[in-house]
Amino acid sequence: MSAPARNEQARRLFAPLGPTYDRYGRLLSLGQDPRWRRFLVSRVEVGSEARVLDVATGTAAVAIELVRRRGCRVVGVDQSPEMLAAGRARVARAGLEDRIELLAGDAQRLPFAAGEFDALTFTYLLRYVAPERALAELARVVRPGGTIAMLEFGLPRRAWRPLWELYVRAGLPLAGRVISPGWHDVGRFLGPSIRGFHARYPPQQLEALWREAGIEGVRSRRLSLGGGLVVWGSRA
Ligand SMILES: C[S@@+](CC[C@H](N)C(=O)[O-])C[C@H]1O[C@@H](n2cnc3c(N)ncnc32)[C@H](O)[C@@H]1O
Repeated sequence: MSAPARNEQARRLFAPLGPTYDRYGRLLSLGQDPRWRRFLVSRVEVGSEARVLDVATGTAAVAIELVRRRGCRVVGVDQSPEMLAAGRARVARAGLEDRIELLAGDAQRLPFAAGEFDALTFTYLLRYVAPERALAELARVVRPGGTIAMLEFGLPRRAWRPLWELYVRAGLPLAGRVISPGWHDVGRFLGPSIRGFHARYPPQQLEALWREAGIEGVRSRRLSLGGGLVVWGSRA
């Protein structure tokens, strides 16, 4: 499937999820999701004066974690108005409207000047875009030396892989079907999407893509038996 088709698929996939994303996202990641976001944010060592961009911010979970942990200001960007609406409600509930601004936008055409941000995070994004193009655009808006960090689903290896396959082929679709038609679509979509992404971009190739985008000191950490993957580096 082409990158524009994948992006359009993401629009349709996330449109019905906003109000229930936080509850079921955590459930379907078997409770691991918040832990992965905390590790992601621990890679972003900025002070309270920093301005950080969180791309594919969705319901603003990473944006909120960044502010709570670092005291920085965050701009969150997402292409889904429905996810952003749920994010705005969540930011308001957290009392963080003075620190977090949420904007509609496409990760591949960010409405910001070069080097405008001190750091950048993005979550579960690269499977929906053309990674080479998106990474170059994400790197563009970060000042030299600023941290860029991402969270993505990983592929467990060795003995854990058959268990993962069982979960994404049977458990996830079934659980999704019980929740709602929108979550059923997600339950069927995720396994092939994650598997396909890691087949196209095995670990070394993914890190090479980051370097080609102008990011140096690239490192990766697999979390929860490889179910989560955090990659980070600095803008050259
Ligand atoms: C699985 S959600 C992640 C949300 C949130 N960051 C989190 O930690 O839960 C992925 C998000 O990527 C967004 N997205 C997909 N393609 C995008 C693009 N090209 N530009 C901006 N956002 C995009 C979707 O709308 C969705 O909200």
